[in-house]
Amino acid sequence: MWWDDGMTEAILLVGGQGTRLRPLTISTPKPMLPVAGVPVTIHQIERARDAGVTRVVLGTSYRAEVFAERLGDGSDLGVEIAYAVEAQPLGTGGAIRNAADLLTCGPDDPVMVLNGDVLSGVDYRALLAGHVDWGAALTLHLTRVDDPTAYGLVPTGDDGQVLAFREKPQMPEEIVTDQVNAGCYVFTRSVIDEIPAGRPVSVERETFPALLDNGVLVRGVVDDAYWLDLGTPWDFVKGSADLVRGIAPWAGHRPAPYLLLDGAEVSDQAVIGHGTTVGRGVRVIGDAVIEGSVLMDGAVVEAGAAVIDSVIGERVRIGEGATVVGAVIGDDAVIGARNELRHGVRVWPGTQLGETSVRFSSDA
Ligand code: GTP
Repeated sequence: MWWDDGMTEAILLVGGQGTRLRPLTISTPKPMLPVAGVPVTIHQIERARDAGVTRVVLGTSYRAEVFAERLGDGSDLGVEIAYAVEAQPLGTGGAIRNAADLLTCGPDDPVMVLNGDVLSGVDYRALLAGHVDWGAALTLHLTRVDDPTAYGLVPTGDDGQVLAFREKPQMPEEIVTDQVNAGCYVFTRSVIDEIPAGRPVSVERETFPALLDNGVLVRGVVDDAYWLDLGTPWDFVKGSADLVRGIAPWAGHRPAPYLLLDGAEVSDQAVIGHGTTVGRGVRVIGDAVIEGSVLMDGAVVEAGAAVIDSVIGERVRIGEGATVVGAVIGDDAVIGARNELRHGVRVWPGTQLGETSVRFSSDA
């Protein structure tokens, strides 16, 4: 029985292309991008481990090799890691089914399944225990959001039983609740084994509605703990800053206005805050101002520059007096002195921008 053998398994879905986070995801899959200096996947594995998960199967597809190179067999993280690789992306349900071939638990045991791009403070241990106590086929963590239209809506009855699934509703009459699918599930293993193998399947659009049609118990647990989907650049910088400032959960981390990683050099005249992460070997020169941003390893910010709410890729150079607000700068780009990049601008890796241009919200 699950509790007795001290072994709990989880599947992490990490095979998506992360198109909304381009150009950051051209070389690095979204779950391996560092938030507060640590890949999202590692934050998730550590939280799962602390909740009793002992073995993790990563469902990989896009840039699958990056995960194994960094995470190995998991021994550094105190879990066992196995890798399921999809030759062609199989979607969320197909990925779960593919990963199930590497599970070792029995048909009645609970399996935790996590989307690989979410920061969450939900109590995984309580979700697992509640799932087993209720004898559910599937338990979903639900969170409440102000604008549910970009999410999967999941209305529940008084006892927590899921009543329906409405994926990204557009019509006002479809918006029947503010509870949305938070991308964290507990499946009974036998339910995963019944997902069709070898073809793309969406759990949200196909598997979940079919479970309701079959009349099995599907429970939703509404929990208002910290939750953030890191799908867009703006949520990505917010998630990183929330971890640094202690707003998002991070065991053992002491909240701080900013985080300096190994070998970062910051001038005494620089002003840094709002949860900024200054990556390994970064140099911040003179009176530069950096707020709420992620500076990836090896970047350089010159005197008089301002970097606000932005992601600065590896080895990027931000020239003297440049202003970068709400922008994403791909690896190895050079932003010449006094450029102004604002609100939604994305600069592709290796781009060289000369001095003094102003760009709003178009790809450079
Ligand atoms: P966007 O392209 O920006 O929408 O990002 P994404 O590709 O990550 O898609 P989305 O955010 O909807 O995916 C939710 C989670 O499922 C992420 O953790 C993805 O890595 C994962 N995922 C999505 N599609 C697949 C797939 O085909 N295979 C695997 N293994 N994981 C997937």
